[in-house]
Amino acid sequence: MAGGGVVLVSSSIVRPVNSSQSGQTKIHLTPFDLSLLQFDYPQRGLLFSKPDSDFHLISRLKDSLALALEIYFPFAGRLVKTENLEDNTVSFFIDCDDSGARFLHCEAKSVSVSDFLQPDGSVPDFMKHFFPADDFKSCDGVSVPLLVIQVTEMKDGVFISFCYNHMVADGVSMWSFFHTWSKICSSGSGFNHKPLVLKGWFLEGIDYPIHIPVSETERSPPSRELSSVPITKEWIFHFSKKNILDLKAKANSEVASSSDMEVSSLQAISAHMWRSIIRHSGVSRERETHCKIVVDLRQRVNPPLEKDCFGNMVYLTSAITTAEELLDRGLGEAALQLRKLVSSQTNETCKRFAEDWVRNVKNLKSGIGSKVGDTIVVASSPRFEVYNKDFGWGKPIAIRAGPSNSISGKLSVFQGINEGSIDIQATLWGDVIVKLLADVEFLEHVTIA
Ligand SMILES: *[C@@H]1O[C@H](CO)[C@@H](O)[C@H](O)[C@H]1NC(C)=O
Ligand SMILES: *[C@@H]1O[C@H](CO)[C@@H](O)[C@H](O)[C@H]1NC(C)=O
Repeated sequence: MAGGGVVLVSSSIVRPVNSSQSGQTKIHLTPFDLSLLQFDYPQRGLLFSKPDSDFHLISRLKDSLALALEIYFPFAGRLVKTENLEDNTVSFFIDCDDSGARFLHCEAKSVSVSDFLQPDGSVPDFMKHFFPADDFKSCDGVSVPLLVIQVTEMKDGVFISFCYNHMVADGVSMWSFFHTWSKICSSGSGFNHKPLVLKGWFLEGIDYPIHIPVSETERSPPSRELSSVPITKEWIFHFSKKNILDLKAKANSEVASSSDMEVSSLQAISAHMWRSIIRHSGVSRERETHCKIVVDLRQRVNPPLEKDCFGNMVYLTSAITTAEELLDRGLGEAALQLRKLVSSQTNETCKRFAEDWVRNVKNLKSGIGSKVGDTIVVASSPRFEVYNKDFGWGKPIAIRAGPSNSISGKLSVFQGINEGSIDIQATLWGDVIVKLLADVEFLEHVTIA
């Protein structure tokens, strides 16, 4: 099915209704933001059943989006690049200028909900056409919107997907925007939302705007078009509540004698995926392997930032070991390594990351990580509420990530539809998926329908 049968019906710009709030707010970018300069826009999408035609789907979504953008005005801004001629560098900030977000209305009349939800967990290749703008990188925000929405009307469903500039918002902020948008749409009017709290500048001793060598801002090639890299595929692995409890208990029992730290469900699952993927990745035993996890620094910096302040307040940090150690030491040790990595993130480590980054800006073009199959990236979070996003005709049926930032080893972790369950959308080379699906030790803790 070429293009998944997705046809563009219309493309428009949606601006905030009232632009009074944003004024000419400038958002200065921190090292945590700028380290994402060469990242693709993250893409997420929610699958719904189809509303009645008298719901006026497209006009209601657009009208409510305009109201939501009034509150979440940074998404309607643009990235601005300034040149620092004195040292041949550039700087960036976000100008909240109400330029607007892009709204794409599409149709895929031959695709039904059941085509999306394959019982074996495979993600159909056509799904990539249901996401907007899959080649935008953060640095492109100087000329393209910081938020793009795509609404695709299917035979018996609707897919609402979006992509956004990760320097503007992290998952916490993105989902809070999405929640507000859905509430405005379902209630049919704006409501008294408290004004957005922007993160402000919280890095004492670091001057802004930060200077970045011009060479680091030249666009790197699209991550998926390197001809030397094998094609990746996507697969959904479901962890039932019982799978999760078992894995967590197994991990904790293995390390109970050596540590008084408890590993979390997410750490146990991530460790299980990390070990299982590396076991089949063909990585030699002495080679280093990285498991990159996302750390939210809102409550780690001191004084802490407001819990729900808006912006990008995350960074990626890596657990590193050799393939040999990872595989020989067992699940518990791998999960404990992730647990220790998380708890070692303090004001001090945030500060050091920021200072080191400013002092030596480099390797931005490597993007999300290594393309040789030795890296796992755990993106998104099961803490983000997905299934309460009701735009007025019912809750979502499923969530999916789009193909951006794809490397073999990208895991998007989502809340599962059944309470307490988790879905992982894994991007992996085809042969790694085939081997995982035949691996008894892996499958013991995963539910394949
Ligand atoms: C926009 O601003 C005007 C004037 O402040 C106000 O009367 C109106 O209610 C606002 N509209 C919305 C949708 O907030
Ligand atoms: C936390 O780090 C910031 C710099 O990023 C520093 O100014 C501040 O004093 C630190 N806080 C504490 C309590 O050490």
